[in-house]
Amino acid sequence: MKKTIIKGTGKAIPSQLVTNEDLTEIMDTTDEWIQKRTGIKQRYWIPKGEEIGASDLGLEASLKAMKEAKWEPKDIDFIIFATLSPDIFFPGSGCLLQHKLGLTSTPALDIRQQCTGFLYSLATADSYIKSGLAKKILIVGAEVHSTGLDKTTKGRDITVLFGDGAGAVCVEGVETNEDIGVITSVLHADGSGADALMVELPASRLPQRLPLDMLKNDARHFPSMNGQKVFKMAVKKLPQVTKETLKKAGLTLDDIDMIFPHQANLRINEFYREIMKIDKNKIFNNIQKYGNTTAASIPIALNEALKQNLVGKKGDTVLFVAFGAGLTWGGIIYRF
Ligand code: COA
Repeated sequence: MKKTIIKGTGKAIPSQLVTNEDLTEIMDTTDEWIQKRTGIKQRYWIPKGEEIGASDLGLEASLKAMKEAKWEPKDIDFIIFATLSPDIFFPGSGCLLQHKLGLTSTPALDIRQQCTGFLYSLATADSYIKSGLAKKILIVGAEVHSTGLDKTTKGRDITVLFGDGAGAVCVEGVETNEDIGVITSVLHADGSGADALMVELPASRLPQRLPLDMLKNDARHFPSMNGQKVFKMAVKKLPQVTKETLKKAGLTLDDIDMIFPHQANLRINEFYREIMKIDKNKIFNNIQKYGNTTAASIPIALNEALKQNLVGKKGDTVLFVAFGAGLTWGGIIYRF
């Protein structure tokens, strides 16, 4: 039977380190407030004034993942690109990345599922592989948030949370009877909560799409968030979907060696850990260094955990779990 196996991972982190202290120089905030509420100490943003899009960070992460997988660009037969911050309104960043890889006809798909983007991508890749539609798939989660944030005190509740970055994973269909690779995927969405975290403009539903008066008065091209609603939903949905994913796989938490929750807020992940009674060393967090990199957060975390040899031994079983804008949430169990 065909299994979806991870062959390589890579990450790209932009060069401009932005500490909490740096943010206090541009808005009314403190290192203490940010760390206490979110756990974040620093994040990386693309250098000011440089034109670097999600597909550029995605390219760097992809080349590293492909090197590890020993793939040439021509080996890729499908690209899945998850981002909420595409380089341009359209076409999708997957097409832009495909061109940057020197490819001319390889199909490319963009996934717009925000913090759950990597999970939707991996589940989609798994379906393409198991149905025989593709064999070698490049999955990328990449975000450039920093060019779209309100960096004044007005936007401080959101701006302090987000960092730029990219993670890439090469997955391949392998014939084996072993119980390895993607074991189970669970995906959910509830569009009734779309306005809890969104960027409204440009909006095709508006006559002018990007009305200049709205930009001046309401700044509706910046993200808006009901932080408390998102927080409460996250600490409810993450445990729920963890139980659902484990049940679907016929496993228990004891069978899981490491959990990779989306990196939205360390407090959310601590609540989740306490509710689920998860051992401290069974959960991987790196939000302290990178902030919330949305679709990139789980592939970056996986790359780091693999490099630190925390996971990756044959038989290691991991759970990816995420909740975010959409609202969307999901869980995936993967065995090395
Ligand atoms: N620095 C200093 N003060 C800030 C601040 C900042 N960066 N951002 C907000 N504040 C202020 C608020 O203005 C408010 O002041 P007031 O009491 O005078 O009105 C006070 O801090 C409390 O704000 P509140 O929004 O109630 O804080 P909170 O405890 O809910 O924490 C978040 C805010 C955003 C950290 C929290 O709601 C959160 O993490 N939510 C989930 C967000 C998330 O994960 N989003 C991504 C999902 S994938």
